[in-house]
Amino acid sequence: MCGIVGYVGQKNNSVPVLISGLESLEYRGYDSAGVAVLSNGAIGIRKTKGKVEKLRDLLLEQPISGKVGIGHTRWATHGVPSDENAHPHFSNDDKIAVVHNGIIENYQELKDELQKKGYVFHSDTDTETVAHLIDDYYKQGGDLLEAVRLTLQAIEGSYALGVLCADHPDQLIAARKESPLIVGIGENENFIASDIPAILNYTKNAYILEDKELALVKADGIKIYDIDGNEVSHEVYTYKWDVEAAQKNGYEHFMLKEIYEQPKVVMDNLSKRFSADGKHIELDGIKLGKAELENIDQIYIVACGTAYYAGLVGKYLLERMVRIPVNSEVASEFRYKDPLIDEHTLVIVISQSGETADTLSALKLSKAKGARVLGIVNAVGSSIAREADDVLYTLAGFEIAVASTKAFSAQVIAMYLITLHIAQELDMLPEKDFLEIKEAMLRLPSQISDILTKAVPAIRKFVNKYISSKNVFYIGRGLDYVVGMEGSLKLKEIAYLHSEPYAAGELKHGPIALIEKATLVVGVVTQEALFDKTKSNIKEVKARGAKVLAIAMKGNDGIEEVADDVIYIPRTHWMLTSILANVPQQLFAYYMALGLGEDIDKPRNLAKSVTVE
Ligand code: F6R
Repeated sequence: MCGIVGYVGQKNNSVPVLISGLESLEYRGYDSAGVAVLSNGAIGIRKTKGKVEKLRDLLLEQPISGKVGIGHTRWATHGVPSDENAHPHFSNDDKIAVVHNGIIENYQELKDELQKKGYVFHSDTDTETVAHLIDDYYKQGGDLLEAVRLTLQAIEGSYALGVLCADHPDQLIAARKESPLIVGIGENENFIASDIPAILNYTKNAYILEDKELALVKADGIKIYDIDGNEVSHEVYTYKWDVEAAQKNGYEHFMLKEIYEQPKVVMDNLSKRFSADGKHIELDGIKLGKAELENIDQIYIVACGTAYYAGLVGKYLLERMVRIPVNSEVASEFRYKDPLIDEHTLVIVISQSGETADTLSALKLSKAKGARVLGIVNAVGSSIAREADDVLYTLAGFEIAVASTKAFSAQVIAMYLITLHIAQELDMLPEKDFLEIKEAMLRLPSQISDILTKAVPAIRKFVNKYISSKNVFYIGRGLDYVVGMEGSLKLKEIAYLHSEPYAAGELKHGPIALIEKATLVVGVVTQEALFDKTKSNIKEVKARGAKVLAIAMKGNDGIEEVADDVIYIPRTHWMLTSILANVPQQLFAYYMALGLGEDIDKPRNLAKSVTVE
């Protein structure tokens, strides 16, 4: 989604800082880019539709420089991707420039009023309204900070803002509501950024702005205010991630690097999660003991996209092992359906970025209705992490590729740990079974490594065979069905192939009509209790001409009687197969996209962190 970076300091030219910041935010997905810098009392703006590389070329042809600057990558919401709609947007006399992430919901009525006052609009964006509104208040009162503050009071919706004013060559103003923004702290220079990678080359220390706060940022100081104008103080947050984590380290794509990081990620998420005697789960700081759990009569798991599928794994496990009703919902539906939740509900929200707008709103709604909210979050200090009652961090490190891989694995591990913890607290898991599952969990990192080493040649061979597929179905039952959902999503996202996941038993209720000669069906068949059932469904699609690529567990060779090709995962406990079965799916999607020549780390239309509805 959109990215913001800003600089104020001693460097003669902020443009290189802005461009390198924008490049580090490219992974978030965007369609245009721009910068504005201040020099000799005037603002220079360069912006263009397309990649940051194109902006770089534009700056070579038409250079600008200045000690203070703001930059932006835009992901279109209001108005098509175009030079005019790219940020920064500026006031009619070019005195004020603004970059914005989020959506101004009442922009049309504000725009109507501003037009009546004579303001001329040059774009279709909601953001331009903000530039004119600040200008209007500034002209009335002559105080820039106050003009921004009044603007924040007038606008509805979500925003992270960076503001430059030609009359104030030594400062920039930042503000946020429901869209992340941090103020980076340097030596005689300071920064603003929508995400830490943008400024990680310069500092790891930052203030994380809260909703409805604004910051006055100068080279030698930062002041933060609430929306009523009162100065507030914040602790400095030090990010632990380093620049290295945001580099490809020899891999062709971030996605591949992140797939290969999974053994370590899984190990990191398992170490320190067991008590010293090895007989219990320890979820640091999470207060979900027997008393709290006995007060809970239902669980909701709410998330979006891949995180939602990780939650679905949790639903299948929790219901089976803990016998508490579990509803799993996508956040965009949950938040508008007046969900039946109360103080006896545990709501688990899952988010890699911790900033997904729908998930955050679902969290707030759940809290307002009295439910207890447990966040499973990757980004430390993110909005969801800060708002949830309890947080379980997923320790996946930076995930840069838009298509989520290692974060999914970490989220699934979190669901395993939570399920085991609740089952133990409620005396529903005999120690012998717990120890068996624990041993199996601890084998997962080496088993994933095993798949990564051994399965790749076979997967590349299957990719060559199936590269011309136009429609792909993923089928499975139980946990295998959920894994198929995630596999299908990956293929859509990066290979742009039409693909659909189906519960294998549901095929004959409609979708089997679409199966024809050479339709590719990926059959996930790792749940041994359901093996024969899914095998029958595979026979049904084979009888209609489908080609079947099966993902099965070692030992279930019977699958070879019906499938055209088989990828085996190592043997594991039934509740842990999802994480292993997903790895070949990730590789399959990756190599299909590679074979089709797609831009794997920056798939079209997608954004890494969806901070608007
Ligand atoms: C898919 C993907 C998305 C995200 C979804 C939620 O590969 O990455 O479907 O899973 O947008 O994002 P987070 O987890 O940041 O809330």
